[in-house]
Amino acid sequence: MSEQLLNVRLPHKTFRTPQGESVTALHNIDLRVRRGEFITLIGPSGCGKSTLLKIMAGLDTEHDGEVLLEGKPVTKPGIDLGFVFQEHRLFPWLSVEKNIAADLSLRQPEVRRRVSELVELVKLQGFEKAYPRQLSGGMSQRVAIARALLRSPKVLLLDEPFGALDAFTRSHLQEVTLDIWDNNRTTMILVTHDIDEAIYLAGRVVIMDARPGTIRKTIPIDLPYPRKKASSSFQELRTIVLREFERVEELELVDSSGI
Ligand SMILES: Nc1ncnc2c1ncn2[C@@H]1O[C@H](COP(=O)(O)OP(=O)(O)OP(=O)(O)O)[C@@H](O)[C@H]1O
Ligand SMILES: [Mg+2]
Repeated sequence: MSEQLLNVRLPHKTFRTPQGESVTALHNIDLRVRRGEFITLIGPSGCGKSTLLKIMAGLDTEHDGEVLLEGKPVTKPGIDLGFVFQEHRLFPWLSVEKNIAADLSLRQPEVRRRVSELVELVKLQGFEKAYPRQLSGGMSQRVAIARALLRSPKVLLLDEPFGALDAFTRSHLQEVTLDIWDNNRTTMILVTHDIDEAIYLAGRVVIMDARPGTIRKTIPIDLPYPRKKASSSFQELRTIVLREFERVEELELVDSSGI
């Protein structure tokens, strides 16, 4: 549990705008992730959460820092790093099982076995032959998670995977995600706008700031699982996280309790 898995060091990440100006998206990022950890990243819109996740996944390599997975530089996307986007990005012309199998053939018995294992893991038994148009948003996102897990990645990176879902579906998918983490011990790094979700899932909440995107603070969440959102210890942590945002001028986080 304490073994280092992923080391991210990014002195600077800049983008060039179409007008030729340079925009600093990330500054002075130093994040070390241990094997089996569940980390949530939270911060205002534009603070660089997606940029950071894409760099960790090897989807963006134009930066002057380094990302090390088990000590080796990540220079391109690979099977060790699974990625789930906010929108599910399923192929509409493929069935659930074919979407999960991606470029592997279901004619191979070991692929069929793995796909059926994943279908069970994300609780979609009976929908193997269904097409994305026949699925709800939550079901589609579960297919996307299963697809990202196909090759048993060491790290699963999730960029606001439940952002577009209603509160009930969201809460259900939080349970599915925790189940997967609990059963497989896949290291999880999940971006969210939702403070309750960040605390509910994580062993560590990483709070980011915007302009430029930096890590403001990391808050350990030492609550045992399963967690109770209404418990006083949960609420205390919530207050601590919320207090961190009182200094952020343009607060764009979803405060899901409505307080
Ligand atoms: N391809 C790009 N070209 C130029 N600038 C970009 C590009 N991608 C992101 N940026 C800029 O980098 C900064 C960080 O963007 P990013 O998408 O990582 O933020 P975010 O924290 O994920 O925001 P949100 O919560 O809205 O998803 C923003 O200022 C954004 O405008
Ligand atoms: Mg984003």
